[in-house]
Amino acid sequence: MEYKNILTEVVDGNLEIIINRPEKLNAINKETIEELGRAFQAGEKDASVRVIIISGSGEKAFIAGADISEFANFSIEEGESLSAEGQKILFDIVENLTTPVIAAVNGFALGGGLELALACHVRIASANAKMGLPEVSLGVIPGYGGTQRLSQLAGKGKAMEMILTARMVDANEAHRIGLVNAVVEQVDLMDTARAMAATMKKNSPLAMASAIRAINAGFKNGVDGFKAEISEFGKCFGTDDFKEGTTAFLEKRKANF
Ligand code: COA
Repeated sequence: MEYKNILTEVVDGNLEIIINRPEKLNAINKETIEELGRAFQAGEKDASVRVIIISGSGEKAFIAGADISEFANFSIEEGESLSAEGQKILFDIVENLTTPVIAAVNGFALGGGLELALACHVRIASANAKMGLPEVSLGVIPGYGGTQRLSQLAGKGKAMEMILTARMVDANEAHRIGLVNAVVEQVDLMDTARAMAATMKKNSPLAMASAIRAINAGFKNGVDGFKAEISEFGKCFGTDDFKEGTTAFLEKRKANF
């Protein structure tokens, strides 16, 4: 598949996606958002891909936000459709992907950049990473799910504080408030993400997909997460992965999914 703004490579069952606009600190313009959406969906469809890792090129930024130059002159209607379209073609897709997605946050993750990291299933940050939702300093608010997902991960009070002050948090604070799962030195970031991916790849892809659906269900309006869990739990019993996993355990060998 052809992309202009991102690099993709499948290595050892991982689809590694790198946003490649280092001169703009990997700010995501419309085209990049569209390409990312396509890349994630292609990864989910590719049976050889077991985990997706997303990171930014260079040592300075994961993503410094949505491309401000693109929306500076937008009208109310254009602003609303920018938000709706972005959520539909990328951010919601990432959150609901049934292939596990790890964000390797290698520097600034601001605005839409932090929102993309928040939509991923797991986040690992390098020690130099700085994260924030500075939109109110530009006269706008987060529009790619940030008001919702930051509250879900870090709590309403912290989300209010971070969004209203437009303040960046460093990697250690992000870890302390539950924004990221781990912090490592920048040189170790991709290897740490790959090691986590390797641990995930030992597990049943179908069961991981069910787990993602069940966990996400609890955060959807009008959906009973416990009922979703019951249904996903039941579905597992009809899969070859379940037969292999339980048989392998009883035969005292490693499961081969
Ligand atoms: N949209 C468009 N371009 C951006 C961008 C964004 N979100 N973030 C950075 N860039 C561009 C800069 O305009 C600059 O381009 P130029 O060289 O053509 O002038 C280039 O990336 C480098 O950024 P610069 O600001 O010179 O780097 P810095 O090290 O001085 O500062 C940041 C880094 C991240 C603090 C600063 O770039 C910044 O505040 N960016 C905007 C963050 C933001 O508000 N994001 C939310 C958007 S809703």
